[in-house]
Amino acid sequence: MDIKKTVAQMTLEEKCSLLSGADFWRTRPVERLNIPAVMVSDGPHGLRKQAEGGDHLGINDSIEAVCLPTASAAAASFDRDLCRQIGEAIGDACQHEKLAVNLGPAINIKRSPLCGRNFEYYSEDPYLAGELATAHTKGLQSRNVGVSVKHFAANSQENRRMSTSAEVDERTLREIYFPAFEKVVREGKAWTVMCSYNRINGVYSSENPWLLKKVLRDEWGFDGYVVSDWGAVNDRVKAVAAGLDLEMPSSGGSNDRRVMEAVRAGLLDEKDVDACVENILRIHMRYVENAKPETVWDKESQHELAGRLASECMVLLKNEDGILPLKQEEKVAVIGRFAAVPRFQGGGSSHINCFRITSLMDELKDQPGVSYAQGYDIADEKPDEALIAEAVKAAAAADKAVIVAGLPDSFESEGYDRTHLRIPACQTELICRVAEANPNTVVVLYNGSPVEMPWLDKVKGLIEGYLGGQAIGTATANVLYGRVNPCGKLPETFAVKLEDTPCFLSYEGEGDTGVYNEGVFVGYRYYDKKKMNVLFPFGYGLSYTKFAYGGLKLSAPAIMDTDRLTVSVDVTNTGSVKGKEVVQLYVGDVQSTVFRPVRELKGFEKIELMPGETKTVTFELDKRAFAYWNTTLHDWHVETGDFRIEICSDSRTVLLSETVRVESTVNVPVKYTVNSIFADLMGNRKAMEVLGPILKNGIFGGGEDKKESDTAKEAISDEMSKAMLMYMPLRAIASFSGGQLTYEALQAMVDRINEQ
Ligand code: BGC
Repeated sequence: MDIKKTVAQMTLEEKCSLLSGADFWRTRPVERLNIPAVMVSDGPHGLRKQAEGGDHLGINDSIEAVCLPTASAAAASFDRDLCRQIGEAIGDACQHEKLAVNLGPAINIKRSPLCGRNFEYYSEDPYLAGELATAHTKGLQSRNVGVSVKHFAANSQENRRMSTSAEVDERTLREIYFPAFEKVVREGKAWTVMCSYNRINGVYSSENPWLLKKVLRDEWGFDGYVVSDWGAVNDRVKAVAAGLDLEMPSSGGSNDRRVMEAVRAGLLDEKDVDACVENILRIHMRYVENAKPETVWDKESQHELAGRLASECMVLLKNEDGILPLKQEEKVAVIGRFAAVPRFQGGGSSHINCFRITSLMDELKDQPGVSYAQGYDIADEKPDEALIAEAVKAAAAADKAVIVAGLPDSFESEGYDRTHLRIPACQTELICRVAEANPNTVVVLYNGSPVEMPWLDKVKGLIEGYLGGQAIGTATANVLYGRVNPCGKLPETFAVKLEDTPCFLSYEGEGDTGVYNEGVFVGYRYYDKKKMNVLFPFGYGLSYTKFAYGGLKLSAPAIMDTDRLTVSVDVTNTGSVKGKEVVQLYVGDVQSTVFRPVRELKGFEKIELMPGETKTVTFELDKRAFAYWNTTLHDWHVETGDFRIEICSDSRTVLLSETVRVESTVNVPVKYTVNSIFADLMGNRKAMEVLGPILKNGIFGGGEDKKESDTAKEAISDEMSKAMLMYMPLRAIASFSGGQLTYEALQAMVDRINEQ
């Protein structure tokens, strides 16, 4: 379809009719011009296609589908290829079900572990979130179906999500809350972007031209359409002008009429309407012209895929005395309701009606030596003595006990936040009592976000299983018994307690204003800077084998910020079983004039190694790996100086380190005034040239040549007076010169300095 030509043939009424949905999930057709209606459905980890009765809270039924690992789990894989496979599987399902767009991936940053929707998001780290979401996007869009990367932007809390204003400074937006979106748009070529419900610095995302036009389109080159989160439109006319193309769900025609009237009244440029319609049609026709409803959606094989992928997402957090893997001949007491009825997805719009669910006990029920005890009730938080007694008995009679615990559905969901980081009291009590009865106890957690673990010292083994999708039981069995060597790493820090978390003091804000006080110090950027004790750091995860690192090489000892640096490192499997390792590269600025994190993840690669095998892993770093967002330039900037290139096993453990010098090619313009202080002028050659003579001549409170009395020398040393001078403004020279230097002469000097 020639989109421009088609739009030119449309009446204003027809154009406006396309600006919002026909119902909850479909757009309107324009039959006269052969424009069909298309349907979209929720993701992000499967399909929630509602045949009828639409809602955005996961209440009404949807067709039977496959629930793949949620983003909480997928992120722990640190595996781009795994995320691509998730995208491809969903893309096939969409083609089969005639869906033009799948509403995901959801990539908001995990600012606080309290956010109810963290199970749907990837990470506290923007680089990791961006890389994985881009892989998901490429996989899904390879099937000629669009993603809708959401929720743009700064939607990191659920309470008040439709009214709150995220008050975030420019640098923090650019360094923390934008980069994942930027990557998915620039590199993933996302077909659609979903704007968030919230406001950013007072402006609704749905009517923010800076966000939707300047940043998204002009800077990042977005060429798809922006859709509102369901019900995120406040003022449709403002939204059209700001670049919000499609309103969902249907406004019942009322907003379309408002837009039409605004155009007729001269309050809105018809060109803005045309732009929205063109964006929507371009994307929808991309799907329509490539629709393949004959695509096979093989749910059986996707179920198998879900299990395979989930096992690569599990994170082994503790393995004292090599308690894992379990051995076939051991007597194992499997304890916990989640072992029989797993929690593997979260509540809300991503909720999938699974065609099959495999629990751990489904996998182990026929295995000799395995017993099962329920241990706790899901509906009741209170410990149940009878259930605990039964579990303790089973544990005492077994060689090892495996407790499957975690967060029940009501604890974390879309639409509201958690208020604490505890697992239910009945589970904590169960873990303590079982571990007392059998010291060989392992805990497996099913949860979408970190929990506090006051019981950690009592157990020997711990696996973080996250919400791993409908075949989580298969994955758990495979990891427990060593059929799969665990290879996940934490995509977020596990704090010791809620009070330690970076935005504990300001999360959710006051009323409808939430100030992001912690700035760029989100997640490990905060814990590492403060050298705080954490339960488990970002990037942490064990394996049944061991890896040795060596041979770190940089392609050059010094580069310009326009050059690329190649970094290579050798990794060897020194254990006795095959395993996968995530090689993590972090960069840290040795000295900086702005506050910067100790180190930031700038590269990762997942590799598989046979016992004894060595592989060389190579990373390419460009300017962005060294840069921070400069608020004078409104651009990325590298300060000339040394940077540490660190190969780490997590954000706290540096295995190998080298230094590279990076030379900036950009000068940040500075305008000095008579109020500028000496400290800021010291590094400036021209300033020292201009000011040098008067300082030397002692015009300012006695110069180098001036004789001082001994008592004066005792009261104030040279170092002290130099230190004090540092923080004085230039105008102090004039004030203290006893008339020798006039203000006019000083201003002339400042002008000369500024001439450079
Ligand atoms: C959610 C979106 C979702 C939409 C449609 C909203 O409430 O925030 O993520 O795609 O509903 O169900």
